[in-house]
Amino acid sequence: MKKHNALLASSLLLAAIAFGCTEAQPAATEEAAQEQAATAPASLKDAFEQDFHVGAALNGYQASGKDAKATAIITRQFNTISPENLLKWGSVHPQPGEYTFGPADEYVALGEKHNMFVVGHTLVWHNQTPNWVFEDGKGKPASKEALLQRMEDHINTVAGRYKGRVDGWDVVNEALNDDGTLRESKWHSIIGEEYLEKAFRLAHKAAPDAELYYNDYNLWKPAKRDGAIRLVQHLQRQGVQVDGIGMQGHWGLEHPSIGQIEESILAFSKLGKVMITELDIDVLPNPSNRNGADIDATFDFDEKYNVYTNGLPDSVQQQLARRYADIFALFHKHRDKISRVTFWGVTDANSWLNDWPIQGRTSHPLLFDRNYNPKPAFEAVLNSVSTNSPAQ
Ligand code: G3I
Repeated sequence: MKKHNALLASSLLLAAIAFGCTEAQPAATEEAAQEQAATAPASLKDAFEQDFHVGAALNGYQASGKDAKATAIITRQFNTISPENLLKWGSVHPQPGEYTFGPADEYVALGEKHNMFVVGHTLVWHNQTPNWVFEDGKGKPASKEALLQRMEDHINTVAGRYKGRVDGWDVVNEALNDDGTLRESKWHSIIGEEYLEKAFRLAHKAAPDAELYYNDYNLWKPAKRDGAIRLVQHLQRQGVQVDGIGMQGHWGLEHPSIGQIEESILAFSKLGKVMITELDIDVLPNPSNRNGADIDATFDFDEKYNVYTNGLPDSVQQQLARRYADIFALFHKHRDKISRVTFWGVTDANSWLNDWPIQGRTSHPLLFDRNYNPKPAFEAVLNSVSTNSPAQ
């Protein structure tokens, strides 16, 4: 507790110095400023350099470099990037035979320019995939053969285009229900369970050097954790390359518990790399007891669920900082198992949580606020490095 109080008392100023391009208050004296600058860890990527990659998901504006303030954060803080929407099927392959790679090309080029670990997200998902993919042209379901052919064309074209340039692919995204059974997506209902194996085999053929991942939310839930283990083990036993599991970190201030997250990290590490792929902490009241990231679960706008439109009160700011400190302490403890931690967005302004599960709210889930300034949680994350036991 003492650690947290000390951390928060100096957080904004120190973090601003560490960040290097904010409207920080001047230090009381020049000596104090020098001391602060000398003791502040340089950046997230430097702080965890020996441990795991740290990154963020980018939107098109950020990937193009047009958002200069975001570029400053991205290049200073992160050594890996993910495309929030730029490489999804609907973005790159909106119509049969029509591929649009402009924004995705900019995204990959940005990562290469800055020697970042470039993630591809995602090849096979039930969302953001146009209806035509699953239809026969007359409004009826596509045949199994036609859908398999479309999957092959898509993976060959997209993963093949970035062969040797995208370092790791979320090959299959969110194939499981929360109870660990296979989601009855159109991929599953039309092709059957073998769609999973096909997707991974095709991805490996198109991009032989890329790491290949299974990625999902709510993987801290024991039943879903077991389902993911069954899924990945089944594939690996058939000789299919699956290099790791991405645990989406769409979590709250109090749930899941650190112990629940830890159990999944430990379990998944027996199968390969573990990545925390879509980290954000929702601080807004939840209109239901749903959690995770089921984008179909939405609710009508209601002011009572939009309570921090003028910024986060200090007490919540501190709660968020403590939560992030605890989470990163866990990641640091298991740094021998975790290869990457990626925030789902750069600043609060662009977080998907402004529009989910209710559109038009003011959310505050990340380390940088709407004005591109680091929040107390930023320094809490940096400080979590020095206060940890050796990896276990
Ligand atoms: O681009 C259109 C724009 O032209 C249109 O005017 C506007 C109107 O609503 O929609 C825009 O598309 C939106 C798109 O984001 C780009 O902003 C979609 O409606 C919206 O549904 C889409 O949401 C994305 C969501 O995935 C669905 O693809 C979120 O930004 C993105 O953060 C979210 O990311 C997912 C991961 O891929 C998988 N895991 C869960 C995570 C959160 O849902």
